[in-house]
Amino acid sequence: MKIGSVEIKGYTALAPMAGVADRAFRELCKDFGASYVVSEMVSSKGIEYSNKKTQSLMQISQKEHPCAVQIFGSEPEVMAQSAKEAVKSGADIVDINMGCPAPKIVNNGCGSALMKDPQLCGEIVNAVSNSVDVPVTVKIRKGWNSESVNALKVAQICQQNGAKAVTIHGRTREDMYKPYADWDIIKLLKQNLNIPVIGNGDITCAEDAERMIDKTGCDLVMIGRGALGNPMIFAEINAWFNDLRQLPKASVTEKVSALLKQAELAVKYKGERIAIREMRKHAAWYFKGFDGAAALRDEAGRAETLEQLQKLCAKALIMNNT
Ligand SMILES: Cc1cc2nc3c(=O)[nH]c(=O)nc-3n(C[C@H](O)[C@H](O)[C@H](O)COP(=O)(O)O)c2cc1C
Repeated sequence: MKIGSVEIKGYTALAPMAGVADRAFRELCKDFGASYVVSEMVSSKGIEYSNKKTQSLMQISQKEHPCAVQIFGSEPEVMAQSAKEAVKSGADIVDINMGCPAPKIVNNGCGSALMKDPQLCGEIVNAVSNSVDVPVTVKIRKGWNSESVNALKVAQICQQNGAKAVTIHGRTREDMYKPYADWDIIKLLKQNLNIPVIGNGDITCAEDAERMIDKTGCDLVMIGRGALGNPMIFAEINAWFNDLRQLPKASVTEKVSALLKQAELAVKYKGERIAIREMRKHAAWYFKGFDGAAALRDEAGRAETLEQLQKLCAKALIMNNT
């Protein structure tokens, strides 16, 4: 598929996830075969004020391409300026966040709150599209709440204003992350838009990816929580589609080796202190289903150094007879 002029080869995208889908994790997901990755959301205001943390969120590795930097905000001009910075940092695509449900985001009129004002969505897409040469995309939800499901209207306005693809997460803001995502809304958008539609919500295995594509006709599937502690999901889906075969479940050894690789990359990019603290939650996700998982998670929660994490992984292997 193509998003504007950018070709995406394959079927899978890693979802933008604040505090999770950082450079190290995105790189690892690419290694496992993700076709496309999107950065954590970056504040347009933070970019405007050259905030250091914000700048670091936009750093991209060579192997991530093609990739998007996702920006959030509600002021068209500020969004347009920040998009230019995202492109300078190497983004092949600029994605606009219109789906975040977090109170601190929506209370400022950003994220999914934008969907309450379709015209403003159009103005933002228009301003951003006119400010950069790369394709601009949007990520939306079904709507604000069950009484105001307007994903198609918002997507159509975004398309008219220059969006080159739409990602749709089949839940309203009110739904947050439950109940199950509504895939019919993905189909509705696919049937009514001329630009590619990326389907998102509740994909945790290759069969889910196949079902979503069959049911909705979407051009790409985007995976969020299904990749946590499980970047191998991209290899699993690729094997299913390309070779028509089911990969065996990732072994304890494979999971531990992915965890350590991610930790090493994170240390390289963020320094040990920050990286290992942030890796604690990832370690807990990787340890899910291990013998002794509770104790391993507990110890991971106290890790301060890469060496401690390495020792913990060695222990996990012994506890799991590998
Ligand atoms: C920890 C976490 C952080 C997220 N951060 C973002 C974000 O920065 N931008 C965004 O558009 N969506 C964000 N999302 C939503 C995901 O991109 C995705 O739409 C949602 O998790 C549904 O997909 P899934 O069922 O595959 O997880 C986040 C989700 C999670 C769980």
